[in-house]
Amino acid sequence: MTSDLGLAGKRIIVTGAASGIGLETARLLASEGAVMVLMDRDQRALDAVADELRAVAHFCGDVTCEADCEHMGTVARTAIGGLDGLVHCAGVSDRVARAFDIDIDEWQRIVDVTLRGAFLACRAAARVMLEQKSGSIVALSSIRGLIGSPRRHAYGPAKAAVSMMTKNLACEWSLSGVRINAIAPGFIRTPMTDRLVEDGKIDEKILADRTPMGRMGLPIEVARASAFLLSDWSSYITGVTLPVDGGWVAYGGAGPVATH
Ligand SMILES: NC(=O)c1ccc[n+]([C@@H]2O[C@H](COP(=O)([O-])OP(=O)(O)OC[C@H]3O[C@@H](n4cnc5c(N)ncnc54)[C@H](O)[C@@H]3O)[C@@H](O)[C@H]2O)c1
Repeated sequence: MTSDLGLAGKRIIVTGAASGIGLETARLLASEGAVMVLMDRDQRALDAVADELRAVAHFCGDVTCEADCEHMGTVARTAIGGLDGLVHCAGVSDRVARAFDIDIDEWQRIVDVTLRGAFLACRAAARVMLEQKSGSIVALSSIRGLIGSPRRHAYGPAKAAVSMMTKNLACEWSLSGVRINAIAPGFIRTPMTDRLVEDGKIDEKILADRTPMGRMGLPIEVARASAFLLSDWSSYITGVTLPVDGGWVAYGGAGPVATH
């Protein structure tokens, strides 16, 4: 059963579609009847997802590579005849280290995947959308880009820049019919956060206690927000970063929510 968001037949690209939030987003949009093109750097996982969702096209690429991102536009034009939506989910987590312990090349790699990747992917999609004078883009930011965090010196600042990029591009493109918004997920259960839990970098119980809704989020809850921002239900929304975080950013107290 589909919702009444009107996404059936919409031509949509999802980057980072092989895992986590991107995978669940691709699944949701496919179930809504969207015409899907999928991109990820993990060829094997991407092949399996494209098979599962009967995607019209999929291709392996690195979002930090301009040619790979521009190829998205070529695929949109040739395989699906245009582009109505992009959800840019490709991303990597931080190394979680104090400022003086950070290797600057590793710092640069995370900034590149996060910010350069977002800019190149959004620009490539908009090239097609601006010709049509229509389209909606959703970029994945993070609550780490909205709040200060120790030991997150590449990821957090780069995600903050993704939110600012979203504002700037909205100012530049909205008059031409292209909307762009960002989503800032809180702590969502995906392979990315599973790895951080396994490595002892985050503690699930502490996170749940600090979250007004008392739990981590699910990838489908982020996917639904993207579906809304892609659809005409958000027709007068552009340039915003929407937290999907169970109230994490809203809470300003110290310690567990229940003790206040
Ligand atoms: N999971 C969370 O709690 C959380 C919270 C805030 C923001 N986010 C953001 O949401 C997005 C998705 O995160 P996730 O948790 O689903 O992660 P994930 O690791 O499960 O999936 C990320 C996907 O991106 C792909 N990818 C990574 N680098 C790439 C590159 N250079 N080019 C192309 N593909 C690449 C990976 O192969 C993988 O399939 C990321 O931008 C992440 O920063 C996640």
